[in-house]
Amino acid sequence: MSPIKPIYASFRSIGAYAPEKILSNADLEKMVDTTDEWILKRTGIKERHIAAADEYTSDMAAKACELAIERSGIAKNKIDLVLCATVTPDYFNMPSTACIISDKIGIRNVQAFDISAACSGFVYLLSIAKAFIESGMKQNVLIVGAEKFSSIVDYTDRSTCILFGDGAGAAIISATSNKEEGFIDLHASADGSYADLLITPAPGAIHPASQHVIDTGLNFVQMKGNEIFKLAVKTLTNDVKEILAKNEINPEDIPHFIPHQANYRIIKAVGDALKMKDEQVVLTVGKYGNTSAASIPMAINDIWESGRLQTGELMLLDTFGGGLTWASALLPFAGQAINK
Ligand code: ACO
Repeated sequence: MSPIKPIYASFRSIGAYAPEKILSNADLEKMVDTTDEWILKRTGIKERHIAAADEYTSDMAAKACELAIERSGIAKNKIDLVLCATVTPDYFNMPSTACIISDKIGIRNVQAFDISAACSGFVYLLSIAKAFIESGMKQNVLIVGAEKFSSIVDYTDRSTCILFGDGAGAAIISATSNKEEGFIDLHASADGSYADLLITPAPGAIHPASQHVIDTGLNFVQMKGNEIFKLAVKTLTNDVKEILAKNEINPEDIPHFIPHQANYRIIKAVGDALKMKDEQVVLTVGKYGNTSAASIPMAINDIWESGRLQTGELMLLDTFGGGLTWASALLPFAGQAINK
């Protein structure tokens, strides 16, 4: 009897979509009591993309998915699992956005479901795709982080409306027998005792849709920004140190550190703590703002499209978000690079 060959999960391709409409800091100055200077200095954000009124999370996700599929060279009928991470689904209860996306891109009769892990959603999806593939249950998994965050933002609240944007990022994760192409390590965790730091109270079983929900704005995102900030810096730094030490990799050997894009000051503090050079740290928060589950794949797509991400190069992903949730991943890019 021949020995069973191990199977590894590999990151085959990336695709992303940002809606056409741009909301600049100057636009926000006309909406709330804020300034371009304050936003830039405190967050590093210059502008964010906002979906059209009739453009939904599944529409943005479908566009990102089509690109990821095309760039993977894998036929649609070979995809056997579709996963979507979002906290702004088309429908809050059912059907799942993954089912709607599957229909929009013409992939039917395969397993499809959503997960909710806020900004950690994409790295959580990587862990699920890895488990399905390495257990031999699936071969080619389409994952997408997508958000119409503007649908839960109160545009009269200056402490949150300056931060968030809309968009989607997708990837194909495939089975391989080549260990060099496989994920190196992945860690995901959560602590629900911090649930109230970032919360959208309604609609849900606790606060079903009602006039009271509308009158009190319970349907909008509420955030204790300062407390999240401190926790984010601590958690992200520890997470990266841990995964690198465990795998005996030095921070200077990482060509692409791709952290969740929430705030330039958080990213800078983590990069500095790890003594990383600016060119190692991927930064897209300035042009997209915080796109939650879409933030990391949109950033990967940016370096891929600009020709910075080459086949075999190591990516270190690190994220945190509502829940609180956090996750990090160390993996090579196993797809085709773009020739620039
Ligand atoms: N314009 C001008 N002033 C403002 C604005 C604004 N847009 N927002 C707040 N302020 C004021 C506050 O009222 C406060 O005024 P005061 O001192 O008179 O009371 C002052 O600025 C300082 O407020 P802080 O909240 O302490 O400002 P801070 O430096 O912490 O920056 C920010 C706020 C940008 C929100 C920051 O805390 C942050 O980025 N936190 C992390 C948020 C985050 O990453 N959230 C996403 C998690 S991921 C997910 O799952 C979606």
